[in-house]
Amino acid sequence: MTVKDILLLKGKRKITMLTAYDYPFASLVDKAGIDIILIGDSLANVVLGLESTKEVGMTEMLYHSKAVCRAVKQALVIGDMPYESYQAHPDEAVKNARRFIDIGCAAIKLEWFEKCLEVTGEIIKAGIPVMGHIGLTPQTADKLGGFKVQGKDAEAAKRLIEQAQQLEKAGCFAIVLECVPDRIAAMVSVKLKIPTIGIGAGADCDGQVLVMHDMLGLFDRYRPKFVKQFINLGPMVQKAMEEYKEEVISGKFPAKEHCFTISKEELEKL
Ligand code: KIV
Repeated sequence: MTVKDILLLKGKRKITMLTAYDYPFASLVDKAGIDIILIGDSLANVVLGLESTKEVGMTEMLYHSKAVCRAVKQALVIGDMPYESYQAHPDEAVKNARRFIDIGCAAIKLEWFEKCLEVTGEIIKAGIPVMGHIGLTPQTADKLGGFKVQGKDAEAAKRLIEQAQQLEKAGCFAIVLECVPDRIAAMVSVKLKIPTIGIGAGADCDGQVLVMHDMLGLFDRYRPKFVKQFINLGPMVQKAMEEYKEEVISGKFPAKEHCFTISKEELEKL
């Protein structure tokens, strides 16, 4: 998948996107034929057990991105710019975006903030494809009144539509719409030539994204309304571990077929 392939999908079929943070799961997402894999900074919550996505930096993001890039053969891989990496100065943002590309990502994603258009423009000028992210932007949720649906009144909805149009004009190849009323997301999707990827933004977006640990039932600290759990892996994994514990204690595991042998002659020599 290339950025161009993703652009061509708009209006043809829905685009699929999931997060992944390590080699085994990125490999499964890729084999499932998902179009886009995002190494999301949601890593902070679902993998590292932190409270806020603001708590991860470039070190953690690059470490996990390298593992994902090693696994992926067909999907478009996008690195999520952590808060500290692009807020200070556009030059710093370009340098950090380049670090994602250097390890194998095809593009980066950036959450909306005051200087978003300037920073996005500079990164695109440097030849790096950018996916925008508007609506609920978790890194700056404190400035949005917390983890709430955005664009619920006419004025806020107008602002969202304008942000989307400005990001398209700045050269973004796609935009994530997070926690936005479905009618507003539909309006944005019709107005833009580039694809919209929704999370809590209804069925009329050009594509959908979910955090992998949410849809697999591997994260139970909280579950937003927009999450559909496609399988509840957590209890299944725990059950397997309990069985392992029981078999080790009872001596059922390891059995003969899990053991290595030595010949009788060698044993006698010994
Ligand atoms: O960090 C993340 O996982 C994201 C997605 C929810 C879009 O930004």
